Order: sequence, then C-alpha cells, then structure tokens
Amino acid sequence: MLEPEVENLHTPVLLMEAMHFLSPNEGGLFIDATVGLGGHSEEILRASESTELIAIDQDAAAIAKTQKRLESFAGRTHFVHANFAKVKSIVKGITSEMPKGILADLGVSSLQFDSPTRGFSFRFDAPLDMRMNPDGDEESAADLLLRVPEEELAAIIFEYGEERNSRRIAKWIVESREQGKPIKTTKELADLVARAAGKRKNWHIHPATRTFQALRIAVNRELEDLGRFVATAVDLLQPDGRFVVISFHSLEDRIMKQELRRLAGYCQCDFRGRPDLCTCGARQVVEILTKHPVVADEIEIDVNPRSRSAKLRACRKL
Ligand SMILES: C[S@@+](CC[C@H](N)C(=O)[O-])C[C@H]1O[C@@H](n2cnc3c(N)ncnc32)[C@H](O)[C@@H]1O
Ligand SMILES: [Zn+2]
Repeated sequence: MLEPEVENLHTPVLLMEAMHFLSPNEGGLFIDATVGLGGHSEEILRASESTELIAIDQDAAAIAKTQKRLESFAGRTHFVHANFAKVKSIVKGITSEMPKGILADLGVSSLQFDSPTRGFSFRFDAPLDMRMNPDGDEESAADLLLRVPEEELAAIIFEYGEERNSRRIAKWIVESREQGKPIKTTKELADLVARAAGKRKNWHIHPATRTFQALRIAVNRELEDLGRFVATAVDLLQPDGRFVVISFHSLEDRIMKQELRRLAGYCQCDFRGRPDLCTCGARQVVEILTKHPVVADEIEIDVNPRSRSAKLRACRKL
C-alpha cells in the first residue's frame, strides 16, 4: 500500500503504455533513470519476482523517500543518487548483466513541483532555487538571474518557455538587479513577470508559468547531453532490449525523435541522401516501436492534467 501522502504526490504518467513497451514481466535487469517517487519503478518490480532494478535520480530527497516506500523490494533494487548522464558507469559498477529495459520519465516530479520550499513553483513563496540536485554544482535560479546577460536571458525565456514577452521580461529582470534589487524569491519573480507581461484578459495560465519553466530547464541543463544519454542507454541494452522515454516539452521530444531516428539509421544531417557528407553517424542499431509518439487519452488527462503534454517514444535494440 502507498502512503496516502505519497499517493497524492505523484501519479505516474502513461504507466501502462510504458510497461507495454518495457515488458518487465519475464524478469531481468531494468533501469529507471528518473525514479522520482517510484510510480513506474514499482510497476516494473511488481511485474515479476525475478526483475531487478537500478533506480537513478539526481534528487537526493526523491531517492530517500522512494527507497523507503519501495522497501519491500529492497533485495532486488539498487538506488543511485546521480545524474543519468552517468548511466554507463553506474550500471557497470553494480552488475555485468546487460539491461533488458531502460526508462526515462523526464522533467520534474510533483515532489519537486509541489514543494513549498524548493522554488519550482510560484504557488509558494520561497527562495528562487529550482535545482533538482541542490547538492550539485549547478547554480540556483536566483544566481542565474544575477549572472546571465540580458540577451541570453531573453533567449532562454523565449526558447525554453516559448514566451512571447521574453525580451521585456529579461529587460525588467536586468533593470531590477541593476537597481540593486535582484530577484531572490518565487513571488518576486512571479510579480515582476506579471507586471512586465502586462494585463491580458482571460489568462489561461498564470503569466509567469512559461518563465518559470524556462528557468527550470536552464538551471538543470535539462536539454544538455540528452541525445548522448539515449545513445549511451541504447548501447548498454541487451539485444531485443527496450528504451522508453517520456518527455513533456517540445524541445525534449524533438531531441528524442531525432536521436531515435539517427539510431534507426536515418541520417539527420542537412545534406540527407549524400552519405559521403554525413557527420551524424547514423547507423541502424534500433527499431523504432512508436511511429508516432504515444500520448495520454482523455481519461488519463482528466485524472492527471500533467499527462496532457506527455509524449512517449520507444525503441528496440537490434
Ligand atoms: C517526472 S519525474 C519521474 C517520476 C517517476 N517516473 C514516478 O513515477 O514517480 C522526473 C524525475 O527525474 C529526475 N531527473 C530529471 N533529470 C535527471 C537527470 N539528468 N538525472 C537524474 N535524474 C533526473 C528528477 O529529479 C525527477 O525526480
Ligand atoms: Zn548524417
């Protein structure tokens, strides 16, 4: 049984779909690269008593909480507090077995987003931190806003947040810090963005939503090395092993789509059809199992609005 508190905290997205592609019911080694609160991990472990799991997360709080919650599977679960970029050395350090399946459910967990102290959301007034791994080397969102030049800040907010008012918001942030009033809290940032974006009727979302998302992606370098992670994960898999990824942002999904296509042998270079000019190294090592990304149905979206933007892609190693 889940603790009620945890049950409310995170509903795993596209759970059955992820299990369908991973098919953990015949045992073997599985890697959950983003264990979070362990919704997907628990299902992987329940599928078969001979399933072993390596559960990775860069958030020590998630590891601690989930390790406790999944205590009954302790004999066949290894928890690792690390960035999944290190997946190869993590797995090799634990076992010589080749994984049958690797899952990555990207982005933030509700443990992070619903935390009143970690600064991911303007729903709570807190220091503007936003680091998934507060023990690591990354700077907090407040420090990033202190350091980054205006143009770069506008580009971050535009690209990662798809925010039309990015230039104005960046200008106001920089003006504020130049006047000796740097943005230190979620409330200060949310108020500034709301003022910079101006009044608009019928806001469907809070005016600061996009800026908060953009900063979170920048602080945690969420798009960096994502393509390389896929290639490394696929390389680790045993033949017929599955890689499954769930993304929540169009940039993330685009990287996943391109990388999976490259690994399926389709050149991603500008001069397609000229193999002599290819620099992307496309070579078929996987079969793509999802021609189109799998998305949540209306029922899941109703129950869990976070699933609205989820896109699942899967492949099979040849
Ligand atoms: C959407 S949540 C995963 C939720 C999980 N599937 C569940 O059912 O509870 C994403 C998790 O991935 C972690 N994460 C994101 N990027 C990471 C990275 N590069 N390395 C390790 N963990 C990462 C976050 O800290 C967060 O806990
Ligand atoms: Zn190429």
